[in-house]
Amino acid sequence: MLSSTKLHSFASALIIYALSASATQELTLKLTGTEIADGVDNLKVVASLSNTGDETLQVLNDPRSILSSHPTNSFSISDADGAAPSFNGMKVKYSPSFAARKNYTNAFTTLTPGQSVEVEHDLSNAYNFTQSGASRYNIIPASTFYIYDLQTQEVSKLKAKIQGEHSSKLHGRLAVSRRSFAKRCDDDHDDDEEPTGPAFQKCNHKQRRQIRRAVQVATKYAHNAHDYLTDHTNATDRYETWFGEYNKTRHRTVTKHYANLVEQGYKNYTYDCGTCDDNGTFAYVYTEPDAFGTIYLCGAFWRANATGTDSRGGTLVHESTHFTKLAGTADHVYGQSGAKDLAKEDPDEAITNADTHEYFAENHPALD
Ligand SMILES: *[C@@H]1O[C@H](CO)[C@@H](O)[C@H](O)[C@H]1NC(C)=O
Ligand SMILES: *[C@@H]1O[C@H](CO)[C@@H](O)[C@H](O)[C@H]1NC(C)=O
Ligand SMILES: *[C@@H]1O[C@H](CO)[C@@H](O)[C@H](O)[C@H]1NC(C)=O
Ligand SMILES: *[C@@H]1O[C@H](CO)[C@@H](O)[C@H](O)[C@H]1NC(C)=O
Ligand SMILES: *[C@@H]1O[C@H](CO)[C@@H](O)[C@H](O)[C@H]1NC(C)=O
Ligand SMILES: *[C@@H]1O[C@H](CO)[C@@H](O)[C@H](O)[C@H]1NC(C)=O
Ligand SMILES: *[C@@H]1O[C@H](CO)[C@@H](O)[C@H](O)[C@H]1NC(C)=O
Repeated sequence: MLSSTKLHSFASALIIYALSASATQELTLKLTGTEIADGVDNLKVVASLSNTGDETLQVLNDPRSILSSHPTNSFSISDADGAAPSFNGMKVKYSPSFAARKNYTNAFTTLTPGQSVEVEHDLSNAYNFTQSGASRYNIIPASTFYIYDLQTQEVSKLKAKIQGEHSSKLHGRLAVSRRSFAKRCDDDHDDDEEPTGPAFQKCNHKQRRQIRRAVQVATKYAHNAHDYLTDHTNATDRYETWFGEYNKTRHRTVTKHYANLVEQGYKNYTYDCGTCDDNGTFAYVYTEPDAFGTIYLCGAFWRANATGTDSRGGTLVHESTHFTKLAGTADHVYGQSGAKDLAKEDPDEAITNADTHEYFAENHPALD
């Protein structure tokens, strides 16, 4: 009895070993679309993501990836001379582990071996070709995806193989304006509201209370970060953990970023609560000049803590650094471990990464 059970489990162990040894995770990404676009509003591409491995994959619906049709910076576009359009779409604070851990609806796209998914993108929503001009553009999709392992509940990165090349010849209209932004919009003013407080768009009472608190926290974080940097013009643990190797030029750049955030203040933004309910997303902003000052809050923001890592206060710091005239950051990497790796590998990129600014300001757990 005992020996047969043993034999049985030995045999299943062998089978599991054989399965895991042969399992390969592989994604292949292919782009098709308009060959000749008369006007940027006709510049459309279809991204097709296929599971070409032999294991079912839960691919996270990262808003920055081609799986989402949100106008994020999901493509690298340039012509033969290297001219590139300017990006004027959405910059999003997203957390792959947050989205995956809670197993929300729509958190990921499941692809069985051989299965594909296609997502259409209208490039006029995110790119402005006015400066780069009419030309033939090579369009390369972002190829990094986050995979969620249901067994281990771990998130890992997987780079898709890109199949073929896609280019489009663009002429005619080079930019369209699709969004309209209200200035200091406050659609439902409270009687008890301070006239100099933040403006709200589609926010209920509880949300306003949470935002007012987040504004206090973000204000404190931005001041503290700025004071710390002006007091420490040297390679401290806190500086180097997030911004990487100390250098005067880079130190001056990030100090200026926080000085701009402090000067702008967090009461001077409009906070929108009614446009986005994505669960893995904290917030986003648009980067065109007309969009300055409006911060869109999403599902993960309301579930975050008021203070600490990836908090509501820290999220406001993150979003404010995206505005071009304040710091103009991008989302090169997400999360604390990603930000720490970036600091080690590429300090020049770390000082332009939004989450990096947030984590330095949150300083949680505290570093000296
Ligand atoms: C967020 O998650 C909830 C609960 O799983 C779900 O009902 C809702 O549809 C999700 N929101 C979006 C935008 O996917
Ligand atoms: C996530 O939810 C799906 C059903 O929506 C379920 O099949 C799956 O087991 C859940 N995964 C985890 C890790 O809870
Ligand atoms: C596109 O960029 C140009 C400057 O490069 C700017 O003048 C124009 O307003 C932009 N158009 C839109 C629709 O954003
Ligand atoms: C950096 O400067 C601060 C204050 O000037 C000092 O207390 C600290 O010891 C210095 N740290 C390093 C690593 O040089
Ligand atoms: C610091 O790094 C920048 C790049 O971010 C470089 O241009 C500059 O020469 C460096 N300065 C010093 C003093 O090493
Ligand atoms: C922020 O708002 C205050 C009061 O509403 C105003 O005095 C100040 O000039 C504003 N700052 C900026 C940078 O807009
Ligand atoms: C909120 O903070 C507590 C205590 O620090 C922590 O255990 C928890 O994971 C945090 N929640 C979120 C959603 O980050």
